[in-house]
Amino acid sequence: VAAQASNVRSGFAAPKRFEADVEDCDVVGEIPTEIHGAFVRVGGEWFYPPKFADDAPLHADGYVSSFRFHKGKVRYKGRWIRTARFLSNLERGRQRFGYYRNRFTDDDDVRHLDGSVLNTAPIAHARKLFALKEDTLAHELDPNTLALKGSCDFDGAYKSQTFTAHPKIDAATGEMFAFGYEATGPASNDLFLYVIDRHGSVTREVRIKLPYVSMAHDMALTERHILFPFGGYVTSMTRLREGKVHWGWDRTLPSYIGMLPRDGEAKDIRWFRGPERGMLHTFNARSESNRVILEAPFMDSNLFPFFPAVDGSAWDPHKARARIRRVTFDLNSNDDRWQEEILFSFPVVDLARIDTRYMGHPSRFGFAGFHDPARPFQGTHGGIVPGPPTNSYGRFDFSTGTFTSYFAGPTCALQECCFVPRRPGAPEGDGYLIGTASNFAEMRTELIIADAQRLDEGDVARVVLPFRSDAQIHGIWVDASELPFVV
Ligand SMILES: [Fe+2]
Repeated sequence: VAAQASNVRSGFAAPKRFEADVEDCDVVGEIPTEIHGAFVRVGGEWFYPPKFADDAPLHADGYVSSFRFHKGKVRYKGRWIRTARFLSNLERGRQRFGYYRNRFTDDDDVRHLDGSVLNTAPIAHARKLFALKEDTLAHELDPNTLALKGSCDFDGAYKSQTFTAHPKIDAATGEMFAFGYEATGPASNDLFLYVIDRHGSVTREVRIKLPYVSMAHDMALTERHILFPFGGYVTSMTRLREGKVHWGWDRTLPSYIGMLPRDGEAKDIRWFRGPERGMLHTFNARSESNRVILEAPFMDSNLFPFFPAVDGSAWDPHKARARIRRVTFDLNSNDDRWQEEILFSFPVVDLARIDTRYMGHPSRFGFAGFHDPARPFQGTHGGIVPGPPTNSYGRFDFSTGTFTSYFAGPTCALQECCFVPRRPGAPEGDGYLIGTASNFAEMRTELIIADAQRLDEGDVARVVLPFRSDAQIHGIWVDASELPFVV
């Protein structure tokens, strides 16, 4: 039931299928004129229904949208990411691609095409905008038209077949740390790490073998180390030949966090082991003398009901809830375990955000959505993960263990938030929290803009779209100086 609910195509999740431009959007409240740049979002919608009704919604066609801020006004643009899969389906007028990352289930005559949907995350680096999905290379987008330009192998220096949706850009050096897993092909346990300098040139490659093939979705960076968390998800060529969705969940396997010194080689990686854990996104990490500390919203088990357990057991919605944890590694100890502490008592959405000017350096605040059960809700919703609506954004202070929150209203569910600094040089966390809300009463999408230091006072402005926009997976804030925007 949960798996079917995740591909809902009615109500707020009914197919939209259009592209859109809205000049000078309607605004409730006043847009702070100091916000100058773009909120770029990537997500997915099935342009044609999936070939298999229980396929992972993570396999929906990529859609990119941007809210461009300039002098207190906002312009919206939304475009399909016209991948080889999208164009091939459009030509035949139906879905020709099978289960999530299982090419054996595609129509015979499309298996040679790149089947990626590029629906996971955008990133801006070296004055280029990319759409990312962890099953293929980074693909460049035109930052003004949002048109897909093509795949990028960084002048031939990027050898992995895949590129993570969550590279980390060191705020001090501008270097991008990126990796690909299943780097040499489906079900391979190769992970290749790359350092790409601020001009877009690959300066370093490290080829690593994972303890087992799994979904290494995100990473974390400190001033001295690189962390690779993963666990539970399994795949194999046998599984793929059997015609199954790419991932299963094996609760008997340990979770792992690989720790590589920034200047280390493959032999220098140290694998720490933990219990069953769902480990997808991270906030940030830091190295403090002989310890490494990571903050992340990890789950006790499998987040995704559409990646079934290999032992046939039912998906457990309670174990799928993310909690903000502090994970500490003692580098002096020979123990291969980590210490773990839950910092806040209630579950959050596992989409973890920070003030990215502190990426890879010590930071204090994390931002995430959550469901506040004390708040009223009047509506229905159909997100990709079944559960109560995300009605609040939190600013979590990891140094004091306290938080403040923003409530979106009784008819709204929030998508992932994003932090916008108030101005260059503003202190950490001084700025705005932005993110889209699905307003079920009005059947439209609204972009929330709240003061990150006064979340409890409500939003300072809402940009109102006259339609339901796409389901976002991840979004980023891009300052106007970062990309060659045409005003
Ligand atoms: Fe992600």
